[in-house]
Amino acid sequence: MSRYVLGVTGASGGIYATRTAMYLKRFGHEVTLIVTHPGKQVLDYEMQNALYGYCDVECNVDDFFAECASGSADYAGMAVVPCSMGTLGRIANGTSDNLLVRAADVCLKERRPLVIVPREMPYNLIHIENMKRVTLAGAVVIPASPQFYSKPASIEELVDTVVAKILKHLGVDASQVATMATAWSGEERRFPLSGGNDN
Ligand SMILES: Cc1cc2nc3c(=O)[nH]c(=O)nc-3n(C[C@H](O)[C@H](O)[C@H](O)COP(=O)(O)O)c2cc1C
Repeated sequence: MSRYVLGVTGASGGIYATRTAMYLKRFGHEVTLIVTHPGKQVLDYEMQNALYGYCDVECNVDDFFAECASGSADYAGMAVVPCSMGTLGRIANGTSDNLLVRAADVCLKERRPLVIVPREMPYNLIHIENMKRVTLAGAVVIPASPQFYSKPASIEELVDTVVAKILKHLGVDASQVATMATAWSGEERRFPLSGGNDN
């Protein structure tokens, strides 16, 4: 069992967060949730309130006394899903001005996995520069770019093609991640999600 921080912002795509939390719980991990104020509004608007039920602890985004604000807490990593351009910019510039941004900063300084799932289109140069900065600092940027070659039969299956990649980069056991693909159809896919293929 590992502990992960899940940060959720006011970008569209709360379903990615809900399903990330769902699988982390299914695979026996603990989820500490931090949602920004706009994130709460957009989650509600996109009807993703089920997310809260998959999380063990929810920290207030203004509470710097929370454990995940400190490098001493034994978190295995953090995902920011979905990540707004505002929060991306704050992480890229080390502002640490709310708990989510501080927890991401802690992951970078402690050299722990930090997965950032930006959601915007198109990108302007500031967005691209900020993605470059967080990448150079050690984060992995995984755009919400689902793949279609496994022929997903529902929105959930499509979303899970991104979620599998998030889990893999958080360090979740590859054999657990592989069960996601077989669960969809009961049969192996032509492109297993956690094999050598990294598309
Ligand atoms: C319905 C809705 C969808 C939004 N989608 C996005 C988005 O996909 N990407 C983005 O960067 N901002 C998006 N925004 C704007 C952010 O919520 C806004 O920039 C906010 O300040 C982000 O704050 P946060 O980073 O603290 O969560 C959206 C806002 C609304 C109301």
